[in-house]
This record gives sequence, C-alpha cells and structure tokens, in this order.
Amino acid sequence: MRITNEQNDIAEVLFSQEMIKKRVDELAAQLTVDYEQKDPLMVCVLKGASFFYADLCRSMKCRLFMDFIAVSSYGTSARSTGVVKIIKDLDKNITDKHVIIVEDIIDSGLTLKYLTELFHARKPASIKTICLVDKINKHQCEIKPDYCGFTMGDHFVVGYGLDYSDFYRNLPYIGILKPETYE
Ligand code: XMP
Ligand code: MG
Repeated sequence: MRITNEQNDIAEVLFSQEMIKKRVDELAAQLTVDYEQKDPLMVCVLKGASFFYADLCRSMKCRLFMDFIAVSSYGTSARSTGVVKIIKDLDKNITDKHVIIVEDIIDSGLTLKYLTELFHARKPASIKTICLVDKINKHQCEIKPDYCGFTMGDHFVVGYGLDYSDFYRNLPYIGILKPETYE
C-alpha cells in the first residue's frame, strides 16, 4: 500500500479547519435569515466546492433544494485557461427558483460569470453567488460574490475540496502549495 503525506507539500496553512468551520457557520446563519421563506436551490459547483457545500447546507436551518453542476476550467494545470466547459449540467429546471451558486474559489472570475449568465437565461426567481475564497487581485472581469468566506492574495491553494491535479482535496484546511510541487 502506498501512503503519501500530502501535508508535506504545504508551505503554509492559510485557513485552518477551525477558521473554516466558524466562517461557514456564519455564512449559513446569514443565508438562513435571508432565505427563510424562499426554499433556495443550492447549486454546488463540482468538485472543488463539495466540502464547502456540504458543510454550508448542513449548517443552514431553512428548507432548501440541492443540485450539482460540474465544470472544467483548469485541466490539470495551476493556471486558468478562461475556457469553461460544462461536464455535468443541473438535473432540474431552475425557472422561478431562488438559486444560490456555491463556488469554492474565485480567481479570474470567468467561471462564476459564465455560470451566472447561463443561469440567468433560464429565468430563475433570483440568483446569488457565494464563494468560500476570493482572490480579489486576480479578477479578469466584473465580478463580486454576494456572500464570501475569505479574501486572499495571489497564491495557489489546495485543501477542503481544492485540488492540484485532483490531489489534496481531502486536507481539512486550505493551504498554500509549495511552488516546487507544480513548477
Ligand atoms: P476562475 O479563474 O474561473 O477559476 O475564477 C475558478 C476555478 O478555478 C479553480 N481555482 C483553483 N483551484 N486552487 C485550486 O485548487 C486555487 O488556488 C485555485 N484558483 C482557482 C477552482 O476550481 C475554481 O472553481
Ligand atoms: Mg471550482
């Protein structure tokens, strides 16, 4: 059996397990108030948002619906291509629903912008966005999430759903990957 210690590849922990839990619970409390009577449709952007999405939905106290979309913008590299491809679309119609797009991290902003425009065309009752982490200096388009967990500078991070080449997703915290790991 091959056992790797992925934690050795982390240069610095940016957001600890405790920090993430506290912030996710705060965001969930806010959404519970804002969406109390609206039965929001929570859309998980796979795979990166999976842990954030599960913890957020579990902590929300209002009725909600769940659906999943899978997009690809990165392939296996650490650099954005700006090209968004839908790998798996939503199962259900979102017309007249209060949609909340749950994204892991905003970098160029192109993925979230694309998804927001795509969903708008499907005529939902409303559409809002939430991301766990926003790399505020990296945006390449006009984008501002309605709800945001943390902001950060320009680093490549992994953990809590975020990956490099599909590794590191199950780290319980978000950390900066040592550059020598991918350069
Ligand atoms: P854009 O550039 O469209 O990118 O805002 C959003 C998607 O890119 C991925 N991404 C990252 N994944 N560490 C990751 O593991 C990062 O630092 C990072 N930055 C962007 C992510 O999938 C996000 O949904
Ligand atoms: Mg993602």
